[in-house]
Amino acid sequence: MFKKLNFSLKHIPDFNKLKGIKITSFGEHPFPILSYYSVKDYEYLKTFLPDNLKYLPFDQLMVAEIIDSNIGHLDPHIDHGVTTVFNYYLETCDAVTHFYELKEGEFGYNYQGRETANIYDFNQVIKTGSFTARNNEAYILDVSKIHSVESIRAGTRQFIQWQWNNMQFEQVHKLLNLL
Ligand SMILES: [Fe+2]
Repeated sequence: MFKKLNFSLKHIPDFNKLKGIKITSFGEHPFPILSYYSVKDYEYLKTFLPDNLKYLPFDQLMVAEIIDSNIGHLDPHIDHGVTTVFNYYLETCDAVTHFYELKEGEFGYNYQGRETANIYDFNQVIKTGSFTARNNEAYILDVSKIHSVESIRAGTRQFIQWQWNNMQFEQVHKLLNLL
């Protein structure tokens, strides 16, 4: 469901130079707000990516931000239209990512204004694993499985995210190991 990988950037990037147009966002204050942005400047990105990552095929590459002004929890959900992600965390605020299985006979809810039932209540799911990413660590995540993100302190989490729409976790894992 998740795996830490050994990648490190050549230098710590300036997040604002990376952050392009807002693509989508989920959540509302006072709850955590997750926003995805396009990559503003690929040339800048290439200046700090390790050489092998420059050749990684992907479906979408985004920069993401989770703003939590309280100590909240991004509810259990399955990502919309994305099966696997590779996250390079620039600022984690020491948040904890949890993975779950759905209890028998339970179904998801629709996020406001979205078509698929992909969000869940905590009482509908059973926790199967957790990890705490630190700054400048990279993880691959199976986001076709139910997961949530728990804040430990208020703050803004920032990461670069490679996305695959149909490739399963194991396939992407192999792909990254080949680099
Ligand atoms: Fe997610």
